[in-house]
Amino acid sequence: MRTDKILITGAGGQLGTVLTKQLQEKHGFDNVIASDLIINSSFEGCFEVLDVTNFDALKNCVLKNEITQIYHLVAILSAKGEEAPLQTWDINMGCLFNVLEVSRLCKIDKIFYPSSIAVFGDNIERDNTPQSPNLTPLTVYGISKASGENWVNYYCNKYGLDIRSIRYPGVVGYQSLAGGGTTDYAVDIFHKAVREEGVFSCFLKASTQLPLIFIDDAIRATIELMDAPAQNIKIRTSYNLAGFTCTPEELYNAIKQVYPDFKIAYYPDFRQVIADSWPNSIDDSSAIDDWNWKPKFDLESMTHVMIKELKKKFKATIV
Ligand code: SER
Repeated sequence: MRTDKILITGAGGQLGTVLTKQLQEKHGFDNVIASDLIINSSFEGCFEVLDVTNFDALKNCVLKNEITQIYHLVAILSAKGEEAPLQTWDINMGCLFNVLEVSRLCKIDKIFYPSSIAVFGDNIERDNTPQSPNLTPLTVYGISKASGENWVNYYCNKYGLDIRSIRYPGVVGYQSLAGGGTTDYAVDIFHKAVREEGVFSCFLKASTQLPLIFIDDAIRATIELMDAPAQNIKIRTSYNLAGFTCTPEELYNAIKQVYPDFKIAYYPDFRQVIADSWPNSIDDSSAIDDWNWKPKFDLESMTHVMIKELKKKFKATIV
């Protein structure tokens, strides 16, 4: 058995920041190479400046570091992607193709590819959305993820690569801000509340129900999926994954328990249309059956940790 050497692309993002630390703990500091276009000044560990749209740069990085596993997190998200649809397609798909081809050529053992609730669209049952409905995504991000799932499945079948994937709900974490997504409101609202600086402007309607997941659960799901025996992975497109589900109003009310004077105002914008095409809740029974998935956090427990951790963080930046 060769030692696992991990490459994380998009390591500076919302998931990458936390996943990098967890993988460093699991595989050893020197066996995890984080990569992104720029390095964060507070980053600790091995880092490569890497543009994944550059095939040769990716391949050289994999060969030089004797990489055996890739977590490919680079993507332009749903809301941001709508500003430049064709460029978003080029980047999201170009990076994926480079990762798939380099993985094939360099005989990478395991690859992780994040998908999203954005793959769904107007033709789904919104409650408890099943694993395999007709996918008609509304955004270019969703189209790239739905296509990406099929390409992942293709590389698994045709070349025998071991690629695993999750359709993440909106991820909520305190370590970094989300960037360019439709579920970002659920992160931003905590920052506003804890800073106690006025009214939070929510870009979705009060009643918009969406599936969310606390970052600890999202990262644990990723690692549990990657650790599962290969024969348990029955779905090679991407697994539905549920954390909990809530509306902006319910999230606001949970925060208000701690900050009774906190105020919210609703100004739905173009992101409302995107959110309306996504599930209210998710059927993740395949993840439960195949690799024993079980979330630990609900709205209340997530709210508690988010507020506690953000308070610590803001206190540390003020001192
Ligand atoms: N959180 C993502 C977004 O809102 C969905 O995967 O774009």
